Amino acid sequence: MGVEKKFTIDYSFWSFDQFDTEEDGYLRPIDDKYADQEIVFNNVGKEILDNAWDGYHCCLFAYGQTGSGKSYSMVGYGANKGIVPISCNEIFKRINENTDPNVSFEVSLSMIEIYNEKIQDLFCPANESPPQGLKLRENKTLGFYCENKKNYVVTSYEDISRRMEQGNENRTIGSTLMNANSSRAHTIITIEFAQITLTNGKKSEKRSNINLVDLAGSERASSTGAKGDRLKEGCNINKSLLTLGNVINVLADKALGKSKNILPPYRESNLTKILMNALGGNSKTVMICALSPAAINYEETLSTLRYADRAKKIQNKAVVNESATDKMIRMLREENLDLKKMIEDLNSKLSGGVKISDDEKERFHELTDQYAANNKMMCEMGK
Ligand SMILES: Nc1ncnc2c1ncn2[C@@H]1O[C@H](COP(=O)(O)OP(=O)(O)OP(=O)(O)O)[C@@H](O)[C@H]1O
Ligand SMILES: [Mg+2]
Repeated sequence: MGVEKKFTIDYSFWSFDQFDTEEDGYLRPIDDKYADQEIVFNNVGKEILDNAWDGYHCCLFAYGQTGSGKSYSMVGYGANKGIVPISCNEIFKRINENTDPNVSFEVSLSMIEIYNEKIQDLFCPANESPPQGLKLRENKTLGFYCENKKNYVVTSYEDISRRMEQGNENRTIGSTLMNANSSRAHTIITIEFAQITLTNGKKSEKRSNINLVDLAGSERASSTGAKGDRLKEGCNINKSLLTLGNVINVLADKALGKSKNILPPYRESNLTKILMNALGGNSKTVMICALSPAAINYEETLSTLRYADRAKKIQNKAVVNESATDKMIRMLREENLDLKKMIEDLNSKLSGGVKISDDEKERFHELTDQYAANNKMMCEMGK
């Protein structure tokens, strides 16, 4: 100790003091030091939704020792709703703001947890779940996926919030010396989001899978006072986290031009199999590090920061998830929206009796020709 260590991160939020507790329990900042849930969402959550809207797969995961605020940030407690419920609310707010009759949306939700390396469907009560948990399968197109995972279509915030409450009730929690509400399993909430656009009778689709991951604590067993089953549990929690750390290390090395012939050990734990795409593939991924300000947690805090520092080096290759034809049609459609606006502007000049120059006349013809040609191309592609 006594040595200053520097880490570079995109945002940092203070949540230790400088807040007032409102009547409903909401923690409101007294000044601009404390970051409440709204501030965290505006900085972190909004960008994830913007990416989803653009058709990218997204992932947000919270990492840190027990009691440091992962579940608080992701899911939240009581009036202090976290990024997950606020995002769900925002998704339907944005959908309701859409005025284009040719665009429609589909949202569906699934929720699983990984407990002792077993995958449980959180939409299935524990006494009805298969004893070995859900099976992970792998295919070339989808990568790893959970067989028979329940996936519900949701059409409103109330709908999604009801489902999520049901899922939360089935979560595995316990208490450790450091957190009375401790997540003993890794929870993965997946929102599948599709935007369907109808152009000349043809449907095109942009898809985004949003994975929201609340990990169990990364602490070493000794500081939590865990014994017996809880200790065994800790070892398995750590198996997934250890593999996650190893995968992150290899991917970070690769980004730096090292470990060229080493494959990331995704297959060593279920968590890393499920998050394979999110970690090293087609996804825009954000990591939240929850840190404790207490001196006694110095070692864990340092290890979390180091973990994050490695993760930050990974460079994913995210692409918009639509077919090449769909992409072409979308771009032509967007171009035609601009063309239409320019044509209308010139038209209103003409009908208002404003004299337009020969150049403008020529431009008018060019624009209408281009508009018609684009439409023809879209029709042909649609066929
Ligand atoms: N930003 C915050 N502001 C106020 N209270 C917080 C904040 N973050 C966490 N807390 C409180 O700290 C306690 C522990 O937080 P939380 O359950 O989120 O920890 P965790 O990181 O998920 O731990 P575990 O790994 O054991 O699941 C909770 O009572 C929570 O209300
Ligand atoms: Mg938790």
